Amino acid sequence: MTETTANLMNGKCGAIQAKDIVSTFRVHFLAMCRLNTLPWKLLETELKQGRSSELIVDILNQTCLHKVCVQHPPSVKYRRLFLQELIKMHESTTAEPLDELYDALSEVLCLGKESIFYKSYFLPSGDTVSLTESQAVISEGTTGLVTWEAAMYLTEWALENPHLFSGTTLLELGSGVGLTGIALCRHCKPKKYVFSDFHPSVLQKLEANVELNSQDLPDVAVSVEELDWENVSEGRLRDIGADTVIAADVVYDPDIVDCLVSLLSRILRSSKDSSQPNVYIASTIRNPETYSFFKKKLTGAGVTHSIITGPTSEIFPYNRLSSIELIKLHL
Ligand SMILES: C[S@@+](CC[C@H](N)C(=O)[O-])C[C@H]1O[C@@H](n2cnc3c(N)ncnc32)[C@H](O)[C@@H]1O
Repeated sequence: MTETTANLMNGKCGAIQAKDIVSTFRVHFLAMCRLNTLPWKLLETELKQGRSSELIVDILNQTCLHKVCVQHPPSVKYRRLFLQELIKMHESTTAEPLDELYDALSEVLCLGKESIFYKSYFLPSGDTVSLTESQAVISEGTTGLVTWEAAMYLTEWALENPHLFSGTTLLELGSGVGLTGIALCRHCKPKKYVFSDFHPSVLQKLEANVELNSQDLPDVAVSVEELDWENVSEGRLRDIGADTVIAADVVYDPDIVDCLVSLLSRILRSSKDSSQPNVYIASTIRNPETYSFFKKKLTGAGVTHSIITGPTSEIFPYNRLSSIELIKLHL
C-alpha cells in the first residue's frame, strides 16, 4: 500500500493529504468507480478545517472539468449524482454557494441520456486509456463488458515488468474491453498483440476501444480476433505464434474450466522455435472451490504452476483487499 493510500485510509489530513484527496477524486471519478468509494469522509474533514471553496473548486477542475472528462466523459447520470453530492458536501459547511458547481450541474442536467460513455484509467506516465464499457457488471449475457480487478492487477504487474513483453508476440485470452492489452502495448513494446474473445458484443466493444486508442499504439501490430477456447485448431495457434499468453479473470465458471485448461495445456505444448510459451493467468478468487477445481484440472493435464509476486504499485482504483493471484504455468 502506498503512503498516500495509507494516509487516506488513516484519515490523516493536512496540506499534502488535501492534494491526495483531489487526485483520488480524479482517478476514481474518471474510472467511474462507485460513488461511495470516493473519499467523501476525508473531504468532509478537510472542509471542516476551513479550506472549503478552494478545495471544492480543485476537485471540480480535476473531475467534471478535467480535459479527459470533456473528451471522454463518464455517464451523464454518474456526473449528475457526483455533482449533487459535491454540492451537498460543500453546502453542509457554512460556505457560500459556489457558482462554478451550479454551472457544471446545470450543464449536465441539460444533457439527455447518452448511448456511449467512457471510463478512463490513468497510467504512470500520466496518459489515460479511455474505454467504452457497460455500467452493469453483467450485461447482454456476458461479464466481458467491464474491466475487472484481475485485469487491473495483471496490468500493474506487466507495467512493472516490461522486459517480459518487449519484442514478443502476445496472445490475450478473454480480453474483455481491452485495458490490459492497450496499456501493455503502450508501455511494454510488444512486437505483436492479439486481443481475443468469443462474445459478439464484447468483440464489438473491444474493437471500438482498440480503435479509440489506436493513435497511441503506433509500433505494435495489433489485431482483435474471435477465439473461442472450445474451438481453437493447432493451425490457428501456430499462425498466432505467441511467445507469451496472458489472461485475466477467466476462472469464474466451473463449466468453462475444462475447455480453458485443455487450451492452456495445448498452448504450452505448442512450442515455438523449441521454446515453451510463457503463460500468465491472473484470477480474482471469489469462489475458492472453483479456483481449486481449476488448479486440480491443471495438475490433471500435466501442467504445474508457480505463484508470481503481484504488483507493488497502485496505479488503478480497485479494492486492494480483494484476493487476486497471478500464476505462471509450466509443463
Ligand atoms: C470476467 S470477464 C474478464 C474480462 C477481462 N479479461 C477483464 O479481466 O476485465 C471473462 C471474459 O472471458 C470471456 N470468455 C468466457 N468464455 C470464453 C470462451 N469459451 N472463449 C473465449 N472467451 C471466453 C468472456 O467473453 C469475457 O470477456
